[in-house]
Amino acid sequence: MKDRIASLLQQTPLIALVQADDTDTAVCTSRALAAGGISIIEVLFRTDAALDCLSAVAREVPEAIAGAGTVLSAAQAEVALDAGAKFIVSPGLDEGVVGVARSEGVPVYPGVCTATELQRAHNLGLDTVKFFPASVAGGVPALKALSSVFRSMRFIPTGGVSPGNLADFLAIPAVLACGGSWLTPASLIRDRDFEGIGRLAREAVSIAEKARQNKK
Ligand code: 3PG
Repeated sequence: MKDRIASLLQQTPLIALVQADDTDTAVCTSRALAAGGISIIEVLFRTDAALDCLSAVAREVPEAIAGAGTVLSAAQAEVALDAGAKFIVSPGLDEGVVGVARSEGVPVYPGVCTATELQRAHNLGLDTVKFFPASVAGGVPALKALSSVFRSMRFIPTGGVSPGNLADFLAIPAVLACGGSWLTPASLIRDRDFEGIGRLAREAVSIAEKARQNKK
């Protein structure tokens, strides 16, 4: 699964965050994202319905790969994997979370934003981390500086990524993909404007394609 996710992210370097209060919304949102070209979906563990939403997306949206985000503890990682999560994302670096994901052979992307955290991640044998919160942790210049030191590490900037800075983050060679909630704004979810979500996905895919061509 790690290779499959990495190869999908190489094609389309985007991870969409889905935060929903009910399973139908999560499924419709994920379908719209996949139809718009984004198939890696991170279901956020920030609502009471998160676990049900994750199971529903994993079961009902085969064109997407659903993982769990905002996973704070090893116990939460275990229930997420039981619910069908194909990857785990954490806001910070927790060895318990990393251990659970690894023991199941599932990719795990813990959040880091300092050199010390990155060094811990490196020494845990991780090769890919989330850079969070990307824009307030120094944005593109900070990530360039960090990636020049941790040369084998791949990054997923998340937190404040938008159509305005997406291309700049993706232009950094060490960036595997960008993640964010700009693709699933609460206002569009509330209005059940899934066409609008599809449009945002297509816009991001087009920015990513141009950024990749410029990187070559
Ligand atoms: C996350 O969970 O990774 C962050 O909430 C993403 O930040 P964003 O909402 O600014 O995209």
